[in-house]
Amino acid sequence: MAFERVGVVGLGTMGAGIAEVFARAGLRVIGVEADAEALARGRGHLERSTGKAVDKGKLAPGQRDEILGRITLTTSREDLRDVDLVVEAIPEILDYKIALFKDLDRICEPGTVLATNSSSLSVTAIAAATGRPGQVVGMHFFNPAPVMKLVEVVGTVVTAPGLVADVAALAGRLGKTAVAVGDRAGFVVNRLLLPYLNQAAVLMELGVAGRDDIDAAMKLGVGLPMGPFTLLDLIGLDTAYEVMGVLFDETRDRRHAPAPLLRELVTAGLLGRKSGRGFYGDPPREEPAKSRPATFGVTGAGGDGLAERLRAAGFKESEDPDVVLRLADRPVIEHAVRLPDPARMVGVHLVGDHVAELASTALTSEEAASAARDLVKIAGLTPVPCKDRAGFVVDALLFPYLNDAVRMHDSGYASIDDIDAAMRLGCGYPAGPFEMLESLGLAKVRDGLRALYTEYREPAFAPAPLLDQLVTAGVSRFPRP
Ligand SMILES: NC(=O)c1ccc[n+]([C@@H]2O[C@H](COP(=O)([O-])OP(=O)(O)OC[C@H]3O[C@@H](n4cnc5c(N)ncnc54)[C@H](O)[C@@H]3O)[C@@H](O)[C@H]2O)c1
Repeated sequence: MAFERVGVVGLGTMGAGIAEVFARAGLRVIGVEADAEALARGRGHLERSTGKAVDKGKLAPGQRDEILGRITLTTSREDLRDVDLVVEAIPEILDYKIALFKDLDRICEPGTVLATNSSSLSVTAIAAATGRPGQVVGMHFFNPAPVMKLVEVVGTVVTAPGLVADVAALAGRLGKTAVAVGDRAGFVVNRLLLPYLNQAAVLMELGVAGRDDIDAAMKLGVGLPMGPFTLLDLIGLDTAYEVMGVLFDETRDRRHAPAPLLRELVTAGLLGRKSGRGFYGDPPREEPAKSRPATFGVTGAGGDGLAERLRAAGFKESEDPDVVLRLADRPVIEHAVRLPDPARMVGVHLVGDHVAELASTALTSEEAASAARDLVKIAGLTPVPCKDRAGFVVDALLFPYLNDAVRMHDSGYASIDDIDAAMRLGCGYPAGPFEMLESLGLAKVRDGLRALYTEYREPAFAPAPLLDQLVTAGVSRFPRP
């Protein structure tokens, strides 16, 4: 099927980028917005995005003019009469989308393919609202659309044979990698990503760790392109909130219930980048200067490297230290209560080469916690202060996500390679969840999940049976066909 003229409805965070992607590939684009004001904003997105590409030397000024010249902007849907494909990118609210698709069905030629960029809504429900359910698919781009290489192409039980392959071929023409999936809330990427983002907000609300510390842990410790709160601001908190709601409606998994904090910020109009403020955007706070700690002790298996780093940084080990750093293998408090002065113990979990999570127990003194932060900073690590909870920050966010990926694969929804590719290309992760599982070690993740389950009694934290069985069998890689 040839797609040469396309319509894009909604030119916000996603739609403007999608219009740009089509125009870059040489297709003619009609961009539709709700009103003149929103259309001007959409034009602004397009001009800024292509302007940046010129500034960075990625696009010649003449090419930019050609790209913008292929895009016609309008507030009239009727202009979409003759296009081959329409991609819709209006807000994530089913009623709005259904009303729009009914209208597109009336306006467009019978052969026109209608696609939704929805992150989570039922493509089947949208298709069924039209007189052409076989011609309706999901075409789910990632943010920012001109940069991210993935498109999830969503077929339903009534999609015409061959259409998913045709739309996937179009994605290839746009320079993207298509992953074809069935119609489940959140598809592959958001089903795995959003619960992790939501859980980060929950951890913050529980006071396990702060915004900047959680972001630093996931970015610098795990190597993700950005931390969860930066990503939530990029996605838009309203969009994230709606997607969580759709996931929850389908799964009734309470981890999918939007964190109350998200609702509060959305109600306050703090939507992230698009409104100028979300989790970030508040005035920066000054950190009070701290005095340098004098002496330290390190206990627990694997602490030699840290002790060596601290000695190299000029600190002294002592039998009566200011702070005892305990490499944590179980709740830190269990070790602390055995000390003559439990207030001096801080749990440590080294994440990668750059991050040290520092867990304070209910008994840790502010002096010891602050001394531990200073020690690891001077030793060249980024401290992530947190509470003494199973998994601290990183494992509590990472392991359930990995577990979800195993369950998703085991349910037959998507292959290991598709899930890995989707997370790498859709989120810019350095590795997919199965690649991460295999490099961390399946047993380590299984044991970490057991500890999380014991602590939080959250059913979804129980290790996926497939993971558990592979560990029991002594297998270190997931079987691939
Ligand atoms: N934000 C993300 O990271 C992301 C990523 C992938 C997919 N999506 C999906 O893309 C869709 C759009 O999300 P967004 O983040 O771009 O939202 P957004 O709020 O940034 O943009 C939505 C745009 O739609 C316009 N609009 C609303 N009603 C309209 C109508 N009837 N006709 C024409 N335009 C209309 C609005 O004026 C606005 O410009 C959602 O379905 C969302 O789930 C979002």
